[in-house]
Amino acid sequence: MRDDAVAARDAVSQGDAGDMNDPHASATDFERLAARAMSRRGFLCGTAACGATAFVLGAGGMVGAPARAGTAGLDFTPVAANGLDTITVPEGFSWHVVVRWGDPLWSGGAAFDHAKRGTGESQESAFGDNCDGMALFADGEKSVLAVNNEYVNLGIMFANRESGKPETADDVRKCKAGHGVSVVEIAQAHGVWGSVQDSPYNRRITPDTPMEITGPARGHDLMKTAADPAGTTALGTWNNCGNGRTPWGTYLACEENFNGYFSSSDPDFALPAGFKRYGIKTEDRGYRWATTDERFDVSKHPNEPHRAGYVVEIDPLDPASMPKKRTALGRFKHENAEVTLAADGRVVVYLGDDERGEFLYRFVSDGVYTEGGNNADLLESGMLSVARFADDGSGAWVPLTPETTGMMSRAEISIHTRHAASAVGATTMDRPEWVAANPNKAEAYCCLTNNKNRGVKPNAGGDLTPVGGPNPREKNKYGQIVRWRPDGGDHAADTFAWDLYVIAGNPTVHADARAGSANVNADNMFNSPDGLAFDSRGRLWIQTDGKYSDEGDFAGQGNNMMLLGDPATGEIRRFLVGPRECEVTGITWSADRKTMFIGIQHPGERGHSHFPEGGDAAPRSSVVAITRDDGGPIG
Ligand code: FEO
Ligand code: CA
Ligand code: CA
Ligand code: CA
Repeated sequence: MRDDAVAARDAVSQGDAGDMNDPHASATDFERLAARAMSRRGFLCGTAACGATAFVLGAGGMVGAPARAGTAGLDFTPVAANGLDTITVPEGFSWHVVVRWGDPLWSGGAAFDHAKRGTGESQESAFGDNCDGMALFADGEKSVLAVNNEYVNLGIMFANRESGKPETADDVRKCKAGHGVSVVEIAQAHGVWGSVQDSPYNRRITPDTPMEITGPARGHDLMKTAADPAGTTALGTWNNCGNGRTPWGTYLACEENFNGYFSSSDPDFALPAGFKRYGIKTEDRGYRWATTDERFDVSKHPNEPHRAGYVVEIDPLDPASMPKKRTALGRFKHENAEVTLAADGRVVVYLGDDERGEFLYRFVSDGVYTEGGNNADLLESGMLSVARFADDGSGAWVPLTPETTGMMSRAEISIHTRHAASAVGATTMDRPEWVAANPNKAEAYCCLTNNKNRGVKPNAGGDLTPVGGPNPREKNKYGQIVRWRPDGGDHAADTFAWDLYVIAGNPTVHADARAGSANVNADNMFNSPDGLAFDSRGRLWIQTDGKYSDEGDFAGQGNNMMLLGDPATGEIRRFLVGPRECEVTGITWSADRKTMFIGIQHPGERGHSHFPEGGDAAPRSSVVAITRDDGGPIG
């Protein structure tokens, strides 16, 4: 989510929500970065995946890259940056909208009203706002799309109100219903995908849907409330950002900036210990949920915030199933949950905590995945660890246990996870966004989107944020992508080797480290990598959520975009440019791999878009299908 934009427009601050391996003490930052970028060749060539495709990355761009080679086998002419209010894809590709904010999922629902922008009732039976992470599931011939609806743009949803905010109880109902997860069957007719109204799969999961609390925190005193004295059942999920999918066919929705919905009717209420680290405050930030739902009033129900900030597991093919909050995966501002398997079949989940100076985590299940077996509760118990990066390119996963953290119990670690990670000296990161694991080799990548506080200010827990390691630039405006290769090729290994896949920047404006790494040039430059996923062929798709001013430090970068990266060569090409003031986030594919689905989130968040309908229409977050005109696969 665009924290600055949200703060400006909605008064809801969602994002407040060392040296590199320094070979020469006198080297400039750029020289050190260049040395690191060059060293990628050595990193990659230690593996069989390297071979003939590798070449030396030069400071001026991709030396030796042919003019129109397919990035990792997908042939396209890169698109130029632009500021258009539409989607731009390469020649030979096409796009269309699949489902938008406010589209009714049942035939009884009201059509979207561009003037009033819906009611509580219409929103409860419609696709939610601000689509983010998504995954497509197949049930025989049926295609079922699960999509996070991260938040709402108050100024857009409540454009019918002078205040631009919810004013009535029904406004608050509408606002809540815009959040959560939409599960919707989609189908293709004459090459065009659309939602299937009245499908038995269709479901809205909202901040009011009952969920089971599982894992170490289940039943702990900190989880007990007046409505749930056992601490085992919570209501709802909200601010679901990135996602995950499991090999056993479930969907993972990740609760990110959950804190911004709580407030206190008593302005003098003394916030419990631990609230500060998670940004839970007494002031309402515009959503006003506590005015109609007392559980969001922390002075009355101080344990409620302990019941949010988790990964939620959902069975998208069973609309009657109760979602499960997986506390074993920790409580923080979850970005996504990238699931892979260890050599012995245990489930490994990589997890980023998207806030300035927070951490990167890994969960390894106790149980082992077996195809066709009972895998339903593999995410209920396991070991949560946090990453510590060393400047020499090595790193370690530090387990979070009562012994390592000094905390009382696994339950407490599952609830106050940030405190636990601080206690073991985890590496403060430049806002970890999505993690993606390469399907072709044991390595994983994480977008570190940006961090204006790097080298300037500690994180919310007081941990220092020195410049260095995978966070090499002070006041980092552009972001970078770190990757690691677990030792022994096993994602359950305790140690790893890391490097930076790309350091974003603007080489047309800067000649120092802000120009970015060698694989960034005037034709592919971008800022703030966020969404990240590998396709089935091992190509790396990079989505951005950054500054779209197109001036100053960001001159020539245009709207937010999606790029395609080759993990073997480092080559990056711009594949798509989104409409004005959007973020491109969320990605999944049809079963035949001939359609790629992506999310266009918050077009016009500052008032300058009418995407997708144009004219005077309200801007609407949308799921978009992208196909090849020749009918070939796209991932
Ligand atoms: Fe919801 Fe970190 O993006
Ligand atoms: Ca972001
Ligand atoms: Ca977002
Ligand atoms: Ca994000």
